[in-house]
Amino acid sequence: FQEEESFFQKYIPFYINGAKYTILLAFVGVLFGMIIGSLLALMKLSKNKLLKYLAVAYIEYVRGTPLLVQIFIVYFGTGVLGLDLSKLVAGCIAVSLNSGAYVAEIVRAGINAVNKGQTEAARSLGMNQKEAMRYIVFPQAIKNILPALGNEFVTIIKESSVVSVIGVSELIFQTGVVQGASFKPFLPYVIVSLIYFVLTFCISRLLGFAERRLGVND
Ligand code: ARG
Repeated sequence: FQEEESFFQKYIPFYINGAKYTILLAFVGVLFGMIIGSLLALMKLSKNKLLKYLAVAYIEYVRGTPLLVQIFIVYFGTGVLGLDLSKLVAGCIAVSLNSGAYVAEIVRAGINAVNKGQTEAARSLGMNQKEAMRYIVFPQAIKNILPALGNEFVTIIKESSVVSVIGVSELIFQTGVVQGASFKPFLPYVIVSLIYFVLTFCISRLLGFAERRLGVND
């Protein structure tokens, strides 16, 4: 027991540091993912064929290739282009680009899920297509989109672990450090699993609460 206690005292700072990076990656990823994803969704819904197919190609490509590979492509690709990005920045870019494709589908599905009758009613009241979209469809779509965005945040908390391959010192990277320093192969991973679980569990509870609040005036 004596020894276990000193283990925690010694290595907790590593985990705290790692958790900071994991949370940062998730925040940045979802924030930029939302921006990229909203643009892509609008492109995909647009009548312009070029924009539409560009968005479709991007979304399909990103969703059809492993995040691991995308991280390497961003990290080494920016190097080849002569950009000397830090690992953290490269990791943030890769996660954001990846999340953007998933968020695009969330936004598109959220908009499409609003009953067509809503647009028709708005149009028959004299709104043009843009106004109907802005005042009638979007406010309803938001209710479909927000909960799914919360899930995306939880997903990114977990998926950001892959960024450890380029040496960003998030939770998994730090777990490797602790493993090497303590000569214990097993315990560090049990601890990190618990940290991930606490993070995701708290977030999904908060989301559940927010969702119920959103549902109040249905
Ligand atoms: N595990 C998936 C992959 O390797 C990444 C999924 C990312 N998901 C997301 N919702 N952003 O490709």
